[in-house]
Amino acid sequence: MGVSRGGFSSRFGFIMAAAGSAVGLGNIWGFPTQTASNGGAAFVLVYLVLAFCLAYPAFMAELLIGRYGQANAVSSMQKIARNTGQKRFGFVVGFGGIICAALILSFYSIIAGWMMSYSIEPLARLAGFTGEADWLISHSLTRNIIFTALFMGLTIFIIRRGVEEGIEKWSKRLMPMLIGLLILLIIYVFTLDGSREGFNAYLNPDISRVFEPDLLISALGQAFFSLSLGTSVMIIYGSYIAKKENLVTLGAQVTLIDVSIAFLAGLLIIPAMYVAQAQGVAIFAEDGSLISGSNLVFTVLPALFSGMGNVGLFVAFGFFVLMSIAALTSSISMLEGPVSFVVERHDTPREKATTLIGLAILVLSILIVINLDWMLDFVATLSTQYGQPIIAMLCCVFAGWIWHRSDVLSEIKQGNIDVEHSLFWKVWPWYTKFICPTAIGLVFWHSL
Ligand code: TRP
Repeated sequence: MGVSRGGFSSRFGFIMAAAGSAVGLGNIWGFPTQTASNGGAAFVLVYLVLAFCLAYPAFMAELLIGRYGQANAVSSMQKIARNTGQKRFGFVVGFGGIICAALILSFYSIIAGWMMSYSIEPLARLAGFTGEADWLISHSLTRNIIFTALFMGLTIFIIRRGVEEGIEKWSKRLMPMLIGLLILLIIYVFTLDGSREGFNAYLNPDISRVFEPDLLISALGQAFFSLSLGTSVMIIYGSYIAKKENLVTLGAQVTLIDVSIAFLAGLLIIPAMYVAQAQGVAIFAEDGSLISGSNLVFTVLPALFSGMGNVGLFVAFGFFVLMSIAALTSSISMLEGPVSFVVERHDTPREKATTLIGLAILVLSILIVINLDWMLDFVATLSTQYGQPIIAMLCCVFAGWIWHRSDVLSEIKQGNIDVEHSLFWKVWPWYTKFICPTAIGLVFWHSL
């Protein structure tokens, strides 16, 4: 671990930080609704298999590249490259990931800002500030700009402090809070009428759907998005892990936490939707599918909370704080990608680089807020449906085709001396070389 550039001080710190990046809005509202509309437990089953068989190997490729390079995404990729052509390729992939992270942050911070304003609203209402409370959930331009800026301010505040004092410390505080809140909310929703039906809808597998191409593709896309692949983030987090750590198990633990939290979120959201239905809220769209996306979070669930009377204020507060925390532990990782690049390549002090990049991304966010009707969707599609899969695929190509097998092995061996004889080493190189790029390519092609 380089003293000057910092690193995670403990295994637990890394796990919380990487799981914090992985667990985000995608887990808490993306996964449950995809599950509900894709055959319930059948989707969960497919997701589990794909997360471990395809997303995990790609995730390992990024972590390994980072730990080997001990540097930002671009420098790490270039360290592996052996000639000018490969170095250029490394630059494109590394820098592409950094831009992708910045683009994701620009729209993610807007949505996270909504989560923050929705979590303050019940407090304002409780204190009797009805007008202010209404404004907080008004979706007005000023509210959007103020809360996007507030959220970006928090992200900048943490990243300015660096890896150990910023990312690690805050992830270690926020992630246990997130898990605790999630479990409390699940327990509460289970005591309400209608939750049973939701529970059944979520967990009853429709096995006949397991091999449906659409289901497979949604599950794989979700798994890649959730592990933050293709955004330089896992490369940079990998570079902060000590050489004595066993990356193979660390990566598996993070994947397991990510998958488990997505699963738990389903236990909250789907039953909550059926509780809302029992109270007369419409939960199915016109085409018969469950309402998802922003309508679910900002219409269905608030309707449920307001039907609960005063308790609803506390539940709403808990739920939106949960969403805000999930977003914040993801957003700090997004900002770390570009910041580490500028700090290391352009010899800029971390505080200055963080503030400047954070503000530049905020300007883009405000532009998106002003043109919300088309730009949010555009940037989200560009970065998550095009950027992430393409760059994740190129990272696998890099690890599988350009990186020397013996060098890869000696990197994994650090902290895991017997890996050569493990199942991981028998399967993984072959996977990253052929299976992962092909699978990602297929998903990408299909999503077009
Ligand atoms: N994994 C995050 C989620 O589930 C979203 C995400 C996608 C992300 N790409 C990222 C987070 C890059 C951090 C960095 O919501």
